[in-house]
Amino acid sequence: MTDINKIRNIAVIGSGLMGGYIAQLALLAGFEKVTLNDVNMERIDNCVARIENGAYEKKEGLRAIESAGKLDEGLTTNILLGRLRKEVDLAKAVKDADFVFEVVPELMKLKQEVFNNLGKLAPPRAILASNTSTISISKIAELSGRPEQVVGMHFFIPLFGNRLIELIRGKHTSDEVMDACFALGERFPCPYYKNKMYVVRIEKESPGFIMNRISAVIGIYFNWLAEQALEKGVTWEQLEAEASIGEDAMGFITLLDYSGLDIIYDGLQYLHETLTPDIEAQQFLVDLVQSGNLGAKTGKGFLQWTPGKKPKIDSTKKVGLFKVDELLDSLMAIQLNEGCRLLEEGVIPGYSVFNKVMLAMNYPSAFSIAKRNYEKWVLLLEELAEQTGKNYLKACDLMKSGDFIQMRK
Ligand SMILES: NC(=O)c1ccc[n+]([C@@H]2O[C@H](COP(=O)([O-])OP(=O)(O)OC[C@H]3O[C@@H](n4cnc5c(N)ncnc54)[C@H](O)[C@@H]3O)[C@@H](O)[C@H]2O)c1
Repeated sequence: MTDINKIRNIAVIGSGLMGGYIAQLALLAGFEKVTLNDVNMERIDNCVARIENGAYEKKEGLRAIESAGKLDEGLTTNILLGRLRKEVDLAKAVKDADFVFEVVPELMKLKQEVFNNLGKLAPPRAILASNTSTISISKIAELSGRPEQVVGMHFFIPLFGNRLIELIRGKHTSDEVMDACFALGERFPCPYYKNKMYVVRIEKESPGFIMNRISAVIGIYFNWLAEQALEKGVTWEQLEAEASIGEDAMGFITLLDYSGLDIIYDGLQYLHETLTPDIEAQQFLVDLVQSGNLGAKTGKGFLQWTPGKKPKIDSTKKVGLFKVDELLDSLMAIQLNEGCRLLEEGVIPGYSVFNKVMLAMNYPSAFSIAKRNYEKWVLLLEELAEQTGKNYLKACDLMKSGDFIQMRK
């Protein structure tokens, strides 16, 4: 196995929202040199400012983490920032890298081009990891010249909200690289909880892997709900209040804005082509992206953003569009169905992995209450498929049979 203690220099290609988060985690994990690369210096400087002061919330920045006493002994924000390098020239950025994170936009061609360059420019020992949220690692690795050293390492936002890393094997990724990345992922701290990340090994690729695949299918249902609400003149703020689960938690709409609507749009396009045409970007999303309203990063998306804060949603503005119990039942039914598909396809070996993934994301797992609910959920999914006109929502064979109950492992 590659000795992860020999991994000292990390290069991050793409210094946007996720590049900044990953670089920050690498600093907190104790790496001696973390190099940020992007298409221009202004973007890199903005990224450094986000690492220091938080992207959209102050508490996420190194300064706030230091003030809260959560840095390891002997470390300060200034020491950590001193370990950051800024480099626009890709060749210089990766010349002595032991590990490279690719964190550019969610576009297959762009990622392939970056990996083509990385294959030529990074030292032969370097492991090349993509933070893609949906795209096949094998495809991304095709032009890299070293597909056995290419892997998916998928981090999630918000930095403070969860502790999941999906580690994805491409067709040619070696065991050695998988093992090294697993150990490396576990070294990344979760700054809020002060404990380790949960790294889930995904040995077989599937579009969207685990978490984003589930989210995108739930998105089919949300799109349908949103369309009905918009027809009734309900605003996005009201819709968010409707699904609000507490002041501090981010609702679905805030989370979309926070992620970046261009990134969401590109991910949906990929899943539309590779998983099911029933996943699609609705016109309201297309309109926002085309008008340059990309969410938190541009100050406006579904909601209005001011720097340093996430939008305040007044949860008293509920308009009684949905019955919470029915909403939760539908979400659980869809989650279980997609979990069963992941089992059917061999993407996960048993549903205990799925439970851990949900726990790391702070979501309830449908498998934990499936035994007494799945039969009524199968019927509910029939209804949802009928109402939305989306057949993909229908229960798969494994869910219908109930045989998944024996597949805990
Ligand atoms: N935003 C999320 O919630 C989220 C979560 C998990 C994974 N991801 C994945 O992470 C990746 C990046 O997403 P993001 O939200 O950070 O996007 P972003 O738009 O915030 O940042 C992307 C950055 O890449 C830069 N870039 C573009 N082309 C480049 C190139 N050739 N070389 C170097 N830099 C280049 C851009 O200038 C930009 O700064 C995507 O693959 C996305 O799917 C995103």
